[in-house]
Amino acid sequence: MTAQQTELQDLPPGLKRELLPKHVAVIMDGNGRWAKRQGKPRIMGHKAGVDALKDLLRCCKDWGIQALTAYAFSTENWKRPQEEVDFLMTLFQRVLRQELREMVKENVQIRFVGNLQALPPVLQAEISRSMAETQDNRSIRFTVATNYGGRQEIIQACRAIADQVKQGLLQPNEIDEELFERHLYTAGISDPDLLIRTSGEMRLSNFLLWQMAYGEIYITDALWPDFDRTEFHRALCAYQQRERRFGSV
Ligand code: IPE
Ligand code: IPE
Ligand code: MG
Repeated sequence: MTAQQTELQDLPPGLKRELLPKHVAVIMDGNGRWAKRQGKPRIMGHKAGVDALKDLLRCCKDWGIQALTAYAFSTENWKRPQEEVDFLMTLFQRVLRQELREMVKENVQIRFVGNLQALPPVLQAEISRSMAETQDNRSIRFTVATNYGGRQEIIQACRAIADQVKQGLLQPNEIDEELFERHLYTAGISDPDLLIRTSGEMRLSNFLLWQMAYGEIYITDALWPDFDRTEFHRALCAYQQRERRFGSV
């Protein structure tokens, strides 16, 4: 028996274990609005957002969801005021350092996807350390999209493939979906079954463009720091009502 099977909690009413999504992705949106409503600076929303993410990770693990992917920073988020960007980079670094021990103990495997080389070197160091120390952990696969953009991800895959063709290692007709996926940041991670976006916005904002070809989308008006187990339960109930057809009848 795996560690995960021994520690699973009963599911809340209305949820069927066999219909749970294997992989949930979240666009954690609305931190700024949450802070504004409380008369606080935007950065306080980001701080509160970290707690919501920690709770969701624990909940996924308790309920037996195998993978969680969270959108933490997009390739477009550099356009924000320098102060906010700096705060976020420092926050990621601090949280990673503080939470690593707990993730090791809880058997969480953490991975980062995105253009990581453009992140501050101190953050890159924390990222490498956390990925190395948790790579064999199996209770849940937790992926954090940081400096991630779906278009940028597709372009870097194209470049890598084009390079192989140029070197004569690959023929153009050998390029198929499977090969392409191996060049995405998410290689080896299954596509999300369910994508949740908070704060009511109905767009992908450049998140997992390739991977979401058939993923179910759930949008809630709740702002990210208010997204709790009750909200997640609601999202999962809605997901379990969906009929996934993948183009068939
Ligand atoms: C999401 O919350 C967090 C990040 C993009 C880092 P926002 O900061 O986008 O919050 P709103 O959308 O302005 O309320
Ligand atoms: C998407 O939220 C990015 C993250 C949650 C990290 P944004 O707040 O940046 O998206 P837009 O600008 O409203 O589309
Ligand atoms: Mg936003």
